[in-house]
Amino acid sequence: MEQALTIADLKERARRRVPKMFFEYADSGAWTEGTYRANEEDFHKIKLRQRVLVDMSNRSLETEMIGEKVSMPVALAPTGFTGMQHADGEMLAAQAAEEFGVPFTLSTMSICSIEDVRSVTTKPFWFQLYVMQDKDFVYNLIDRAKAAGCSALVLTLDLQILGQRHKDIRNGLSAPPRFTPKHLWQMATRPFWCLDMLGTKRHTFGNIVGHAKGVTDLSSLSSWTSEQFDPQLSWKDIEWIRDRWGGKLILKGILDEEDARMSLGSGADAIIVSNHGGRQLDGAASSIDMLPRIVDAVGDKMEVHLDGGIRSGQDVLKAICYGAKGTYIGRPFLYGLGAGGKAGVRRALEIIRKELDVTMALCGERDIKNLSRKNLLGDA
Ligand SMILES: Cc1cc2nc3c(=O)[nH]c(=O)nc-3n(C[C@H](O)[C@H](O)[C@H](O)COP(=O)(O)O)c2cc1C
Repeated sequence: MEQALTIADLKERARRRVPKMFFEYADSGAWTEGTYRANEEDFHKIKLRQRVLVDMSNRSLETEMIGEKVSMPVALAPTGFTGMQHADGEMLAAQAAEEFGVPFTLSTMSICSIEDVRSVTTKPFWFQLYVMQDKDFVYNLIDRAKAAGCSALVLTLDLQILGQRHKDIRNGLSAPPRFTPKHLWQMATRPFWCLDMLGTKRHTFGNIVGHAKGVTDLSSLSSWTSEQFDPQLSWKDIEWIRDRWGGKLILKGILDEEDARMSLGSGADAIIVSNHGGRQLDGAASSIDMLPRIVDAVGDKMEVHLDGGIRSGQDVLKAICYGAKGTYIGRPFLYGLGAGGKAGVRRALEIIRKELDVTMALCGERDIKNLSRKNLLGDA
């Protein structure tokens, strides 16, 4: 793993280790993938202010996200199907995050269940909620997250209906996976992935099967998932979700100043500026492009986080300079996981930490809490 020096290195290793349909499930965006690309490209347009002859010793990346101490402001984003990048993927990623001192967010659409992840971690993790039409299922999911001691609920707002990703359709990816000769061939050419998968019993959506009404096996799951996302979700729903949950609440998928201002009255603790990694509304602006405007819109009344397109510690630094209190990585940790399980996720975090630390030093700063727009060229 030490030979992987960049997130791009981990991506290439994952490409060689993970069956094509699952690798491409991660490496895909909606329709033309324009927003998916813009998320990364727009970070490169931002230039840093280099400073010299300032004391760069004793640096600290430690800070807080929603009042929780983090070793650096980088959480693992909720990602569905993570246990298909590597056997028991969510459990391994949660452990790597815990050891590193950063938050792990478990997706509703995970392979390992809330209880699975709870059984291999000692500190609270965060849980991401999709609101489904089956409200009993949603109540139950919130209660299970509470019972597992999750310390934040991340409510995803930008997937009331599913964006289309051409690669998934071309690959015949379905939930649960279908195993045609093409799929079996893709798996046969990835023997290490197969061996790991044979060693686990977790091959389907662990939070759903056996918990949702009428979903007892793989075939009933398929129709349930395609019909269940609630297209009528509204600002009013946040009230009962917040009341039932009763803990820290983060709203994920805000990309508009007006929506950001509306979230101020919702009782949430933070918002995540996000376009779902370019997987939903193709043609939407990149997250980093919208970040400064959204930070200005909410002022210091609410914590603003960002995800989308972060591929290096430099990207994290730029988001922090623009006022984000925290960031999330999706694909970077998935590539690490696909490349080498828990060690690969740890490597992804190490790469980002090193880049963030050195960049901060060369910008003339010693404490991540001191970063601001003054550290960006032309944006003081
Ligand atoms: C493979 C994959 C699955 C995802 N599944 C979910 C999910 O289940 N719930 C959710 O809120 N966001 C999901 N997302 C979006 C991520 O939480 C996050 O917004 C996005 O990955 C950030 O962009 P990045 O991958 O460029 O870091 C998913 C993203 C990917 C790449």
